[in-house]
Amino acid sequence: MKSNELIDSLQFVIFGASGDLSQTKLIPSLYKLFKRGRLPEEFFLLGADHHFENRAKFLKNLSETVRKTLPETFETALWEKFAKKLDYLQLDFEDDEGYKELSRKLDNKESSSRSSRQRIYYLATAPGFFPLIAEKLDNFSLTGASVAGWPRLVIEKPFGYDLESAVEFNRKISRIFSEDNIYRIDHYLGKEMIQNILTMRFANMIFEPIWNKNYIDNIQIISTEEQGIKSRGKYYDRSGALRDMIQSHLLQMLALIAMESPANMATESILQEKIKLLKSLAETPLPDLENNLVLGQYSRLDGPEKYIPGYQEEENIKSDSSTETFAAVKININNLRWRGVPIYLKTGKRLEKKNTKIFVQFKSDFHPSFLDNNEPEANLLIIKVQPQEGVSLQFNAKKPGSQDEIVPVFMDFCNKAPRDLQSTPEAYEELLAGLIRGDQSLFTHWMEVKNSWLFIDQLREFINTREIKPEKYLPGSRGPEGMKRLVSQDQRRWWDNADLEDKEEKL
Ligand SMILES: NC(=O)c1ccc[n+]([C@@H]2O[C@H](COP(=O)([O-])OP(=O)(O)OC[C@H]3O[C@@H](n4cnc5c(N)ncnc54)[C@H](OP(=O)(O)O)[C@@H]3O)[C@@H](O)[C@H]2O)c1
Repeated sequence: MKSNELIDSLQFVIFGASGDLSQTKLIPSLYKLFKRGRLPEEFFLLGADHHFENRAKFLKNLSETVRKTLPETFETALWEKFAKKLDYLQLDFEDDEGYKELSRKLDNKESSSRSSRQRIYYLATAPGFFPLIAEKLDNFSLTGASVAGWPRLVIEKPFGYDLESAVEFNRKISRIFSEDNIYRIDHYLGKEMIQNILTMRFANMIFEPIWNKNYIDNIQIISTEEQGIKSRGKYYDRSGALRDMIQSHLLQMLALIAMESPANMATESILQEKIKLLKSLAETPLPDLENNLVLGQYSRLDGPEKYIPGYQEEENIKSDSSTETFAAVKININNLRWRGVPIYLKTGKRLEKKNTKIFVQFKSDFHPSFLDNNEPEANLLIIKVQPQEGVSLQFNAKKPGSQDEIVPVFMDFCNKAPRDLQSTPEAYEELLAGLIRGDQSLFTHWMEVKNSWLFIDQLREFINTREIKPEKYLPGSRGPEGMKRLVSQDQRRWWDNADLEDKEEKL
């Protein structure tokens, strides 16, 4: 993967710097990079939005939030040093005056720096502002640069609402910034174990030769959350689980798990294979969705000890909303490697536990003498993405002391970083370090986004034409009843519901 030398100067502008993402993820991550000496020597961070009146108020609020976000690594003296590099500009995204002031501030700072226009514009705003801000930056001559690869535009997910809106966004933005300078965030790509998938697959002789339909029975990519939609109702009600999670995070995990071997591990080569895979997915005819797609929505929990509002009672949600907070779907990829292998994707909010895991179940073809009574469990590779990070391999062994009893055992790799190196929430630290290096492998390319939307739009069309309503499920449960049928009709099981962790711990 590409890894440029650390540059010597950088101007980092965050639009929406007072928002939740900036205050709890982006700026804490930049502070941690500063602490670890991973920021350029001349670093200038400018927060821009309409929220605070001045720098002092912005900084006061920020330092309190960062202290709370990083209770173990926050150091007052170091923060004060970092804060000297921070400035704030009160600006309305729609108002020209603010951009003139922005230009002045950046130019003033730049006059003392060694290289010019090494700027990053990070759009931590609602998606509706992306094209507008890009156009304003262009109108005020903030997008030219004497150095190739700069300035960079960073866009938060979601990139669009469907294929049509994404194409329109992209058309506007790509007139101003070239694809090489656009960094589309999918924060799952910053997670340790996601970055580890290709190493696991291609640096281990025991996996790649059997990574295909001849040996793999099914794959399950699962990301569940305990929390509800928090205060993001306005965004979520238009989005739902398919657009919010499957279009981005789950399909990115799928692309890495299922892509062909790249020519080499350079960003460009990996990207080509991921795009090919997502294109195959978008072009593979969907299975009978009547039986292979399950949508759910959490209902109210009104118990003696706990009250949890239902989705339709959450802030900014319509009382008759039919947005799905849970989605599970069986898909196929019609290529030589995967034809006929079911791939199950599942995601949802307000479920029993927060868990992101990929399960690769191998085929069961045992010696006949093991099939009589106590049939062995399937071999299973589990890639644990969050909250635990690591890999488990389930295989069968003779139970110690018994004559012929076979038990599944686990071989476990726990990916534990030293405490100080542990990332800030959601892996933003790695993403920001990659952004500064210019490592596009941690970001999504337009063609990936396009093919992912092509796939999601087909599901949405089916849902809309059949007017499918989500099934209700209780907060804290494992999801709607229908999701059991999705796998049981194929004589399979959900592995995240198999309580493997209890088994792992007992062994
Ligand atoms: N928060 C997360 O954990 C998270 C996770 C993944 C992706 N994202 C994405 O990241 C982006 C930002 O999310 P967020 O949760 O940080 O949003 P947010 O809290 O609403 O932050 C947006 C900021 O922009 C300001 N703003 C709004 N309209 C403005 C205008 N016309 N001119 C100037 N400033 C304006 C807001 O100020 P006021 O509040 O005063 O209006 C606020 O400070 C979104 O695209 C979201 O989908 C967020």
